[in-house]
Amino acid sequence: MIHFILAITPNPALDLGGVVDNLKPNEKSYVHDETRSPGGNAINAARILTRLKIPVIATGFLGGSTGEEIKGLLDFEGVKNKFVKIKGHSRICVSVSNKENHKQTRLTFPGPQITHQEKENLFRLLKNQKNISFILIGGSFPQGMQAIDVLALMSFAKARNIKCIVDCPGNILRTLIAGGPTLIKPNLTEFQDLTQSRVTSMRSVCIQAQKFLEEVPYICVSSVEGGALLVTRDNSYFGHIPKIKIRSTVGAGDSMLGAMSAQLYKNNTSADDILRWGLASATASLAQPGTAFGSAKEIKHFYKMTTVKKIKIRNLN
Ligand SMILES: Nc1ncnc2c1ncn2[C@@H]1O[C@H](COP(=O)(O)OP(=O)(O)OP(=O)(O)O)[C@@H](O)[C@H]1O
Ligand SMILES: [Mg+2]
Repeated sequence: MIHFILAITPNPALDLGGVVDNLKPNEKSYVHDETRSPGGNAINAARILTRLKIPVIATGFLGGSTGEEIKGLLDFEGVKNKFVKIKGHSRICVSVSNKENHKQTRLTFPGPQITHQEKENLFRLLKNQKNISFILIGGSFPQGMQAIDVLALMSFAKARNIKCIVDCPGNILRTLIAGGPTLIKPNLTEFQDLTQSRVTSMRSVCIQAQKFLEEVPYICVSSVEGGALLVTRDNSYFGHIPKIKIRSTVGAGDSMLGAMSAQLYKNNTSADDILRWGLASATASLAQPGTAFGSAKEIKHFYKMTTVKKIKIRNLN
């Protein structure tokens, strides 16, 4: 029986993208180049995993007509999914780029209210699945869902030898670390929220990250000194993406997460190689416009062009 990754997005979004010539308050702005994509960190990681031919099922809560559209878009991309149907409406996230100054405005709505029964249904779905090797939890939480609910899912998984990967906002991550995830991937801002510090340099991030190594063997922090850091119990690595023309930064981190999860699924334990695949996947998506992601072929192409280096940090305590 083939094992798979269960990618849980508690608060999926329908991502609407577009361009306006000049966005001004109190004036009607006409949007062109409209894009509609399924969104949420774990959904995006599942889209990358599917492209890399790693068995994955996307789950979480979906409701209303927005929920139906998110499901339809995932089906269209061939992303296997099994969502818990909810009474509320899945949220919409709008991002418009201003053609004049290239600035992007993002509007993120809070999402639906989740009931106790709906949370139970997600738990039941997890319990009824056989052959899960990893659960990947990604994104913000809808109203009614607490970090402690997800910690319960993680404990259930851990007791069955299912490993966890977590990419959630820093304040939630602070609670979920106790669940012993194999990999976390905060960006620098999320890492600062997690550690309640203002660390910015590679060195200071590395030192802070090492404090979590007992619970988390792979700690990847993105957007540090323009690149990404992977801290492990043995060594730490750092790398940049190769030089390319960046078309859109949306989902670069999620693309990284998807490719690194693929390597963990394949039992790759070489941290420098895991980071290299992550950066290659980020690059492939950064080279695409809007919410589009790179293909498996492009990820493999950029993998050959990506290098990472081992970093030496002294005077830890
Ligand atoms: N503008 C950029 N220039 C160069 N590299 C970039 C840029 N944006 C992202 N990257 C690369 O991609 C990696 C992941 O991006 P980022 O830190 O923005 O993820 P994120 O904030 O988690 O994004 P998201 O949650 O939207 O997917 C970074 O560590 C960096 O190496
Ligand atoms: Mg992210």
